[in-house]
Amino acid sequence: MIYLDNNATTPIFPDILKNLSVWGEIFGNPSSIHSLGQRAKNEIQKSKKFLSQIFKCEPEDIIFNSGATEGNNTVIMGLTEAYPDKDEIILSPIEHKSILNPVRFLAKRGYKVKFLRIDENGLVDIEDLKRKITKKTLFVSVIHTNNETGVVQDIRSISSVCKEREVIFFSDIVQGFLKEEIPYKDIDFFTVSGHKFNAPKGIGILKRNKDIDLIPLILGGGQEYGVRSGTENVLFIIAITEAIKIWQKNREHFVAHLNLLKKTFIKELKEKIPDIKIVSENVKTAPHTVNVIFPKVKAQDLILYLNSKNIYVSSGSACSSGSLTPSHVLLAYGYSKEESLRSIRFSFGIINSLEDIQITVNTLKKGIDKLSIFS
Ligand SMILES: Cc1ncc(COP(=O)(O)O)c(C=O)c1O
Repeated sequence: MIYLDNNATTPIFPDILKNLSVWGEIFGNPSSIHSLGQRAKNEIQKSKKFLSQIFKCEPEDIIFNSGATEGNNTVIMGLTEAYPDKDEIILSPIEHKSILNPVRFLAKRGYKVKFLRIDENGLVDIEDLKRKITKKTLFVSVIHTNNETGVVQDIRSISSVCKEREVIFFSDIVQGFLKEEIPYKDIDFFTVSGHKFNAPKGIGILKRNKDIDLIPLILGGGQEYGVRSGTENVLFIIAITEAIKIWQKNREHFVAHLNLLKKTFIKELKEKIPDIKIVSENVKTAPHTVNVIFPKVKAQDLILYLNSKNIYVSSGSACSSGSLTPSHVLLAYGYSKEESLRSIRFSFGIINSLEDIQITVNTLKKGIDKLSIFS
């Protein structure tokens, strides 16, 4: 099989899988004052110390949670509860649904939601941001690396506008983390998800700015400085930390490998299937993501054809009642509904080889030739 759906999730590093049973022996509850509990607590503290060096923040700014959906909801709902006098939210139209949907929920409750303009490559218009910020703006949310197209935003410039205008800046860095240079210090709140970089599912990190209030979404025993109650998942906290260490140690090599896969894929694809469109081709995109709009055939048919050959890819379009609905991201770029339904996202991982790329491109060519007969 060839797995090219690494933006959806990644396989757990074999070394991490192997060690889960060893780390599982650290089973005490970190809130217990006996030695077993304190051993578990010590592991969490060690992880936070390590992460705070990467994120250039205090260990108290790091909150472990279940993943980025929870992190994104925590920031959005937590800020609205903490600062009820500010009732405007500014965001890009290409945010992940775990940001768009809580914001839609708030819009129904009377919040004024302003979407930033993006250009045809998916880049946020900074001048538009400057125009849209007012005294009533609660926060600005711009996704660092889009999960469907891989477009990387100019986070430094966006954050500097927010800083100048004294507005909170929040960014979902899920897809860019470990693959892109991220100006961590410039972002007040950001979210990370373990299963996107070979750690298990169900563990994530929220980096907060502890000088900014956040009313917790989950109330209970007061763990994680009261921001996220619930007994800490020590096993997965160790696992996510180890996955970050493995990525850090091999980062240069991993990123170069992903870039080579992407470059080869685009080159081969253009040679074999000349009428394709690469989304965000003229701007910086992450090394692991390519979004392609194919000629003639529907993405759904092509995805199923690839699946029949054990090649796994996804489309940004959502699947409802057996058929795809257009991706909000591609529509925001200005692509038509029809073009959006012909788009497929290929997302590479460190387990992929150049041979995977060759086979995939050849299979795509065969699939398109076969399917276009019926279209
Ligand atoms: C950009 C982005 N944000 C948020 C999420 C949600 O992450 P999680 O699966 O940890 O809830 C994902 C994963 O689909 C994502 O790609």
